[in-house]
Parts: sequence; structure tokens; C-alpha cells
Amino acid sequence: AETGCLSIVVLGASGDLAKKKTFPALFNLYRQRFLNPDEGHIFGYARTKISDDELRNRIRGNLVPGKGASGEQLEEVSKFLQLIRYVSGSYDSEEGFRLLDKEISKHEFSKNTKEGSSRRLFYLALPPSVYPSVCKMIRNCCMNKSDLGGWTRIVVEKPFGKDLDSSEQLSAQIGELFDEQQIYRIDHYLGKELVQNLLVLRFANRFFLPLWNRDNIDNVQIVFREDFGTEGRGGYFDEYGIIRDIIQNHLLQILCLIAMEKPISLTPEHIRDEKVKVLQSVLPIKDEEVFLGQYDGYTDDPTVPDNSNTPTFATMILRIHNERWEGVPFILKAGKALNSRKAEIRIQFKTVPGDIFKCQKQGRNEIVIRLQPSEAIYMKVTVKQPGLEMSTIQSELDLSYQQRYQGVTIPEAYERLILDTIRGDQQHFVRRDELKAAWEIFTPLLHRIDNGEVKPIPYRPGSRGPEEADQLLERAGYVLTHGYSWVPPTL
Ligand code: BG6
Repeated sequence: AETGCLSIVVLGASGDLAKKKTFPALFNLYRQRFLNPDEGHIFGYARTKISDDELRNRIRGNLVPGKGASGEQLEEVSKFLQLIRYVSGSYDSEEGFRLLDKEISKHEFSKNTKEGSSRRLFYLALPPSVYPSVCKMIRNCCMNKSDLGGWTRIVVEKPFGKDLDSSEQLSAQIGELFDEQQIYRIDHYLGKELVQNLLVLRFANRFFLPLWNRDNIDNVQIVFREDFGTEGRGGYFDEYGIIRDIIQNHLLQILCLIAMEKPISLTPEHIRDEKVKVLQSVLPIKDEEVFLGQYDGYTDDPTVPDNSNTPTFATMILRIHNERWEGVPFILKAGKALNSRKAEIRIQFKTVPGDIFKCQKQGRNEIVIRLQPSEAIYMKVTVKQPGLEMSTIQSELDLSYQQRYQGVTIPEAYERLILDTIRGDQQHFVRRDELKAAWEIFTPLLHRIDNGEVKPIPYRPGSRGPEEADQLLERAGYVLTHGYSWVPPTL
């Protein structure tokens, strides 16, 4: 591993993302000794004029593990907070960034100068509208000191534009300033434990290899449900909608991992090459295979216009035109303000040919990968109902993480991804051509929604979502197993 001075700069340090995700992730890395206090320094940068301590106090609340925190834990938090310095300045003038550079350099030069001792990571916890100017300022004022070695990397997060053109424009602007190897586009779903497990599951198990294709798989569902609405984020959300917020990135990335061919190796470029191929093979989305919804009360938010046409729910079918997947619908579904919160992948197999048990009505084999909550992988299988009669029943082979891996803490997505950026591993980040291909799929539909040509149907908050969405599922060939439900095992 590289050693020497490491500076992590959180831009937008007083914002929500930084407070809720970035700093807690950094704290967790620190706690687990991935951020060595002899080497690592953290800087917050934002426009607000506050002191180091004021920033620390703002962050603290999200780090302390609740009421019953022990003295030891509190001390750990304090020690971590002492690593943080704050610099204030604007996002579009050199003055603040020169000051920032000076602060960073102080640490770098106070250490023994050696190879790799100017490592600088800039985390842009900022709205994308300022990415170009901030990147320019970093480029002009804050690059790592080449005589000390090291590197400069920037981390950015969606929304990367609103459609193909705006995204390409943003990519071009940033691309003029930094090489692709320096740019880390976060999609935090790629940091989730069970998403990271997908390649292992698929390519390290003889069980799945021969079955993973159109001959055996009938349909695939990738589902995201949330049991709360836009909660104070209405202004942001209304500009984007559920397709840009969840489907075009999080669910589509999962689709890639389910559908891609085996990469030549695990190097990031090999993996991302295969993902791009999947995206480029997706056919244009058909109007009759999309269904949109908007929950009642969505426009009550004062930051949302009364006549908003923005979907808070969407189901759609994506079709992949290649040898492995022709004819298999990939159903993507995402919704806010529904009756439950969960994210899962459901791979449904075809019915057994020439069935002699008459068990068809009991349902098909399915592999379910539950990303959250209660991480699990379970396979729905038909077995003999225990007892004297020869009848069959739907049951499951269940790998529930809480039970199988007791006492193991599953890391937060952001924690893992920030560690990857420090280590220089781009495997779980979105490459520029991947992003472009992703926008190509959705841009025509998004434009039609933006123009009001496609309209969302109202649904009741706290419901399953609009009923029509289930009909789309049925039309796609999904067969519901009646009378079966999986219960996450309790300890
Ligand atoms: C974010 C979306 O990317 O993901 C939010 O902008 C959404 O709208 C969130 O709530 C969900 O993430 P998670 O990790 O809680 O499933």
C-alpha cells in the first residue's frame, strides 16, 4: 500500500451529503484504522464562514452512536474530529482554493519528503452545477505537489446531467481538466455488500453458470421501494424524478452486473468493458412497457409546482438484444412513498417442462437477492411437503446474512467506496462511456415526460403503488407464487 501524507478534502462540507454520508464514512474508516492519523488529514471546504470547531460540532451528531455511547466511543469521535480542518471560500474564485492548497501543503511538507507523500482526494459533496468551476479551481490551485509524488483524484456523485446532452457536456468539461483515471463517479449502490457479491455469485458457482440465460430464465425484476416520500428534498427531486434518481443509475448498474458476460479478469477496465456492452445492447424502451405514478400529496411540498408531471414511481421493461438475453424482460421498478422499504433482485426461472407433480400453480424457481434490509440470498425451490402425503410445496434454500454471518458488520456503501478511491481502484465506479450509454437508454423517454407527453397516474402514499404496474408485471410473464412468503429468519 502507498504511504505518506494523504489529504481528504470534502467540498460542500456543511451540506447534507457531507454530514450524513461522507464524514460518517470517513469516521468509520478511521475507526477501523484505514485512515492513519500520522498520514491522513481531512479538510472541509465550503462558503460559510465558520471555525474548525463549528464544523466539528455540526458533524459530531452523525458520528456518535446514539444515547448509550461509551466514554471510549466518544473519545474516538473527538480524536477523529481533531483531524478535521476547515477552510472557507467560494467555489469559483482562486483565493479560497489557494488558501486550501496552503493548508494542505503545510502537512505535506512537515513530513519527511518521500515518494507518494502528496496524495490528494477531493470529494465534491456539491451540486453538479458547480463541478466545472470547482474542478477548474482544483486544477489551477490544488494539484498534488509533483516533486513529492502522489496523486490527485476527484470524487463526484450524481446527478451527472439531466439527459444525454447535458451529461456529455459535463463529462467534457471535467474531462478537459482531469484524466478518466482521476475521476471517480460514485453510484453508492455499487458499494452495497450484495451488489458486490453479484459477480462472485454468478462466476464462482458452477450451479448458476449453465442456467444464466434465456433458455432457463423467464424474467428478471430489479425493485427499489421506499416507504417515505421526498421529505424536504422536493425541490431537488422534482427536477429529476424517480427515473433519474434511482433507475438510470442504481437499478441500471445492477442490471449490468446481472446481465454482463464474464469479464476477462477482475481488473476495473475489463469489468467495465463488459458493462458497457450490456448497456449498448439495450433496445429502445417502448411506451407500452412503461408505467409511471405520482403519489397523492407530492405537490403539497411548497418547493414542488402544483402541476408537476414528475414521476415518483416507475415500472418499465428493458430488453437486451443479444444471444444470452433475447426475449427475457428485465423489469425495473422504483417508487417512493410505498408500503415498504426494500431493494431486491428477483430472477424467475421458466416452468419445469413435462411436469409430473402438477406443482405448477405453486410457483417457479426463483433466486432472490435481497440487498436491503435483511441482506439475503434465497432460492425458491419446490420440495415434498413433509408428511405422509405425496404433495409438493414451495420452500427455500436460504442464506440470510444476519444468521449466517453473526457478529459481522456489513460496511456502509460509502465507506467502502471512499476506501477504493484512496486505493485507486475504479472497479466500482462508473466510467464515462458507461454513463453515456446509460443516458442513451432513458433520454427519449425522459424528454417525453418532461414535455408532458407521458403522464404519471396518482397513487395513494403507503400503498403498493399503482395497480396498473402489477398488470405490466404480469404481461411481462412474471408468475406470482400464491400462498408463499419468505420470512427473514430472526436470531
Ligand atoms: C439516493 C437517492 O441516490 O438513493 C435517494 O437520491 C434515495 O432518493 C437513496 O433515497 C436510497 O439509498 P439507500 O442506500 O438508502 O437505498
